Amino acid sequence: MKRLLFNVFASVFCALAFPACAHAAGNNADVPAETEIPADETIQLKEPDKTLSVSLMQALSDRKSQREFSEKPLSLETLSSLLWAANGVNRSDGRRTAPSAVNSQDIDIYVCMASGAYLYDAKQHRLVRVTTEDVRKQVADRQPMAAPVFLVLVGDVSRYPGGMSSQRQVLESLAAMDAGYVSQNICLYCSAAKLATVPRASMDKAALAKSLQLKESQILLLNNPVGYAK
Ligand SMILES: Cc1cc2nc3c(=O)[nH]c(=O)nc-3n(C[C@H](O)[C@H](O)[C@H](O)COP(=O)(O)O)c2cc1C
Repeated sequence: MKRLLFNVFASVFCALAFPACAHAAGNNADVPAETEIPADETIQLKEPDKTLSVSLMQALSDRKSQREFSEKPLSLETLSSLLWAANGVNRSDGRRTAPSAVNSQDIDIYVCMASGAYLYDAKQHRLVRVTTEDVRKQVADRQPMAAPVFLVLVGDVSRYPGGMSSQRQVLESLAAMDAGYVSQNICLYCSAAKLATVPRASMDKAALAKSLQLKESQILLLNNPVGYAK
């Protein structure tokens, strides 16, 4: 009995006085999980961490373009939160964190990593591989940039109502505006999560359209390399 009381007292004291002891005892509640991103055909993403608490004004104060990245990879948890913030489903009717003209939901995010390029399926909050090719050099194009992940924003004008189909130029400009919102969501999430990014219009569009097997109605608009600052 005495030993039991001592053990209980010791654990409580240890957890209060030395938080590291609590970790050693298996209580990792305050340590963010860091799972490696698997190189699977389909990757089920984790629930976004909505407890990340940086004020909007602080995220805006810290936002800046960064073009040099360390080799540190993104964890599956971070990638999951990043994609949800970018353009995930935030309401029961399927609408998203980014607005879209006439609710067309015309922006797709292709996640380009060493293991290939994946399409973000926001509804299922998962990634579906479109190619095993590492297309990051095609996204970086002539600007050397070694980020672990590039998010490529592609607009699909076929998602607009049929009556608008004759106005290709108008639809392309609406898609470009919609991509801007998604890119800004990425920038603000990165600022809040202390990640580095830069919105970019440059990329080798001809090569990428081929590698990502894009349709005639799909347009490459912007990309955001994402990683940790060097
Ligand atoms: C539509 C758009 C396209 C951009 N394209 C590129 C690009 O291709 N390469 C690049 O290094 N930066 C690009 N930028 C980033 C700008 O150069 C950057 O935002 C600007 O220098 C201001 O710096 P700041 O973002 O740190 O405020 C782009 C920004 C926007 C909004």
